[in-house]
Amino acid sequence: MRKKIVVGNWKMNLTRAETESLLSSLLPLISDATAQVGVCPGFVALSTVADQLSGTNVGLGAQNVFWKESGAFTGFVSPAMLKDVGVTYVLVGHSETRGRFGKLEVPATTVGFFAETDETVNLKIKSLLPHGFTPILCVGENLAEREAGNTDSVIQSQLDGALVDLSADEIAKLVVAYEPVWAIGTGQTCDTPEAERVCGMIRAHLRTKVADVAKSIQIQYGGSVKASNAADLFSQPNIDGGLVGGASLMAEEFAAIVKAAG
Ligand code: PGA
Repeated sequence: MRKKIVVGNWKMNLTRAETESLLSSLLPLISDATAQVGVCPGFVALSTVADQLSGTNVGLGAQNVFWKESGAFTGFVSPAMLKDVGVTYVLVGHSETRGRFGKLEVPATTVGFFAETDETVNLKIKSLLPHGFTPILCVGENLAEREAGNTDSVIQSQLDGALVDLSADEIAKLVVAYEPVWAIGTGQTCDTPEAERVCGMIRAHLRTKVADVAKSIQIQYGGSVKASNAADLFSQPNIDGGLVGGASLMAEEFAAIVKAAG
C-alpha cells in the first residue's frame, strides 16, 4: 500500500515574511494529515521555513539542485548545502527548469538552471541519493507532443534518461511526478482518466526496469491540481498524490488538497 504524498511547489514566490504567514495559517489546518506532505520554498527562504517546520508533519523540499558537491559554480546550490538546511525532498527535472514553460520554450542552448537535459536530471539524481534525499523526478509532455500522439514515448524517454545507471534500490527511493506541461499553471487539468492512464503507463515502464519495486514507487500528478479536483485525481489506483503549484500558495486551498489525499 503506497502512502499518498502532496508537495507544494512555491516556485519563485513569497518573501520570508510571506512564507511565515502562509505556514502559520497552513500548519494548524493539516496537523492531522495522514498523507506525506512537503513544501518547496525558494532557496533563500529554506532556512526560515526549516525552523518553522521543525517538529511538524511537513517535510522541507528544494526546487532544484546542482550536482557538484562544492566549487567554482557561481549561483548554484549543492546537495550538501541543501542537506545542511534540513531539506529532504528535491524537485528534479521540473518542466520549468527544463526550460519548458508551455508556449514559451527556452532554447536548448540556454545553460544554467534552464534547459536542463535528461542527462543533467540523471546527474542531479545521482548526486542526491548518497545524501539520503528523496528526489521528485518530474516528467511530462508539452501540448505539441500530446497532439502528435507522442505523450507516452516522450515520458518514457525522459524516464530512461533520468534513470541511467541507477540500481533498483536507488530507483525505489524516487518519487515520480507526472506533470503535463500544458496543464501547469494554466488552470487546465488533465482529465482524471487520462492522468490515471499516464501514471499507470509510467508505473508499467518502471516495472520494465525494476520489476516488482515499481509497485512501491509513489507517482504524483501535477498540473492545476485544486481542492475541487484533488479527491477525484487521488482516488485513482496509480495516482499517489499531487505536486501542487499555484494552489499551494493559499493555505485553505492547499489544506483541502492535503485532506483529499487522506
Ligand atoms: P500548478 O503547478 O499547480 O500551478 O499547475 C504545478 C507544478 O508546476 O508543479
